[in-house]
Amino acid sequence: MKKILILALAISIWSCNNTKKEESMNIKVEEMGALASGDSVKLYTLKNAAGMEVAIMNLGGTIVKWTAPDKDGVYADITLGSNNPEDYFDNTKYLGALIGRFGNRIAKGKFSIDGQEYTLAINNGPNALHGGLKGFNAVIWDVTPIEGAEPGLKLTYVSKDGEEGYPGTLNVEVVYLLKADNSLSITYTATTDKKTVVNLTNHAYFNLKGEGKGDILDHEISIKADKFLPTDEGLIPTGELKSVVGTPFDFLSSHVIGERINDTTDIDILRGGGYDHCWIFGDSSNTLKSVAFVLEPASGRTMEVFTTEPAVQFYTGNFLNGKATGKSGVRYDKRFGFCLETQHYPDAPNQAAFPSTILLPGETYKTTTVYKFGVKK
Ligand code: GLA
Repeated sequence: MKKILILALAISIWSCNNTKKEESMNIKVEEMGALASGDSVKLYTLKNAAGMEVAIMNLGGTIVKWTAPDKDGVYADITLGSNNPEDYFDNTKYLGALIGRFGNRIAKGKFSIDGQEYTLAINNGPNALHGGLKGFNAVIWDVTPIEGAEPGLKLTYVSKDGEEGYPGTLNVEVVYLLKADNSLSITYTATTDKKTVVNLTNHAYFNLKGEGKGDILDHEISIKADKFLPTDEGLIPTGELKSVVGTPFDFLSSHVIGERINDTTDIDILRGGGYDHCWIFGDSSNTLKSVAFVLEPASGRTMEVFTTEPAVQFYTGNFLNGKATGKSGVRYDKRFGFCLETQHYPDAPNQAAFPSTILLPGETYKTTTVYKFGVKK
């Protein structure tokens, strides 16, 4: 009897260990080396049962690699990135990174809360862009793996009161979860100890043919938005919410990205150098809804975007200029990737008619965005 008990105990310990081992096989951790600052950069690769892999660095919470199957089941890496962590300090591209404290532009790098003016670093023409000189894309996040069949990562970062000019200590948490249905959900939460502004997003560039496989002009996209925000020359919204109907910004039904991107008769296309604008969804209910769908016809890869956010910056990589070399050694030329940066409206801290981006002490900022991959045969 005693022997049987011992044997049963041994088997149960072994099977526990074995389950644990299997689960942790869904998250691989690798060292990417040390930065000039001395910080060590770690890469966490999540893998689901279907075989999709998403690799994320503690530096910037950056998505470095993301594989998706084509119509024949062949996987390709569909996101732009670099193998060298130091490359991610190039603050002109923000490849794959988390963006904060405020995604997109704030005019002249200034805003006021309750009569107190705050001044941010100017890093984009006369304006402030994507959180400043050292935004959330350039800081080291604390990472906790979330083991399981649907693996994930919890990233946390404490942004100090006054960091990059923003008021209040901001406690930020970002959870990436890779689901069995080939979707990645990103949930952003934040709290503050002083009234501040927050607008968090991710700046992944996609090319559904595969990273480094040319431009994205042949992708087809639809966006469930009947309005967009025209801008001035510095890409600051003018305040107008313009109907997309009859313009190159109408993606209510699907269009090839390249079809109208060089329409030099359209002032907004000219100012953006292509698409680099904020689309406003008809549904601003703050619930998770499908907002965009992309198809790359040759591979059959599709990507659907769901978000709780009221808007998306659709950016077609107009500033990629061949200077950055990607993971497979190919240089990223103009329009080699596109971004769908779900967010609140740019310059909201200065535009009272836009939905507020103010966060108060005691409140919790929470948004979710899901990128789901599929195939069309
Ligand atoms: C955002 C902006 C673009 C550009 C990229 C980074 O998408 O809207 O204008 O600055 O980031 O290159």
